[in-house]
Amino acid sequence: VTAGDIIEALPVPSRWDFGGHPYGLEPLTLSASAPESAVGGEDCDTTPDEDLESSRKSLLALGSADGEAGPPIPDPIERIFWFRWITGHQTTFILWQLLARAMARDGVARAAGHDSCSVFVRGYSAMLLYTGSCPRGIYQQVIRPSMALQHPGFSGSWARDFWPVRGLLGPRAMSAPADSRLRRECELNGLIHSGIAAKLVPDGASLLQTAAGQKLPWRRSTLAVLYDTYFLTLRAPIPYQAVVRQLMRRLHAIGRDLAANGLYPLYASSAEERPPGLRTAQVEQCECSIPETLFEIATKVAETGWHAWEVQ
Ligand code: HEM
Repeated sequence: VTAGDIIEALPVPSRWDFGGHPYGLEPLTLSASAPESAVGGEDCDTTPDEDLESSRKSLLALGSADGEAGPPIPDPIERIFWFRWITGHQTTFILWQLLARAMARDGVARAAGHDSCSVFVRGYSAMLLYTGSCPRGIYQQVIRPSMALQHPGFSGSWARDFWPVRGLLGPRAMSAPADSRLRRECELNGLIHSGIAAKLVPDGASLLQTAAGQKLPWRRSTLAVLYDTYFLTLRAPIPYQAVVRQLMRRLHAIGRDLAANGLYPLYASSAEERPPGLRTAQVEQCECSIPETLFEIATKVAETGWHAWEVQ
């Protein structure tokens, strides 16, 4: 990847410009892992980024601008759910990296006291609901088979950006202090993951479980390459600013999609397919507040001294 290959222009505020056409895709470039150390010091550039600031504010106005034409109804409708599946996962990878950075900086106990970690976990929950919003039929006929063709045992546990945050978010992981907002967000996140799994795969077995017994001869890092390439994600040392700008492009595209189509578009059967685990007040509140969550993510990122993170 050369610097010119990274698509990091801030999004155009007044129209869809992601992926070059409505519901288009873009490759994402991220460092192999989130930098763990902060570099302090006087030579850090602390100039506020005004363009980033206006891009952040315009997230609140998506869909409400006078005369703005939203993206059209997708044709075929698979296109929108494919866009959501790939772009929602890419956004999740960035959120995991941001979370890992914040935890490495502050430690889990102190990080729990900071809103940013809770917002990033909330963002991950929003992305689970967003990527999982496809009708079961499209998941079973298009999305799942495409992962199984990449590898029959394809699994979220191959996601390299998840490894550093597994202690916080994994199935038995409850390292956030009890009674903290972070802990509540982690618990809700676990419930939403199970709810999405029950909605899309009612018989419950993941591809990895279905393919059990096929011993994989590869190292974990090789599986991570299979996983990354499926989600159009490349790895190269990039400045933190490029991470933030790629994130802003995705937050805008997702916000624009939601403003035009809603989380459960009227032309799709997804809303009725939600199992009881996704019909709780807590989950519904998380669904309704996705646009605000996108804005909060951008706000936390803008507050973070991103200039102070070492590039790896
Ligand atoms: C909607 C997007 C999804 C995301 C972002 C996601 C993410 C993840 C991640 C990060 C893990 C690793 C957990 C760990 O190692 O502790 C995982 C594991 C797992 N996920 Fe998901 N998941 C998604 C959808 C699903 C669906 C639709 C199912 C339905 C079967 C599912 C079933 C599982 C299972 C059973 C595991 C345990 C490991 C395995 O069998 O692969 N997930 N998921």
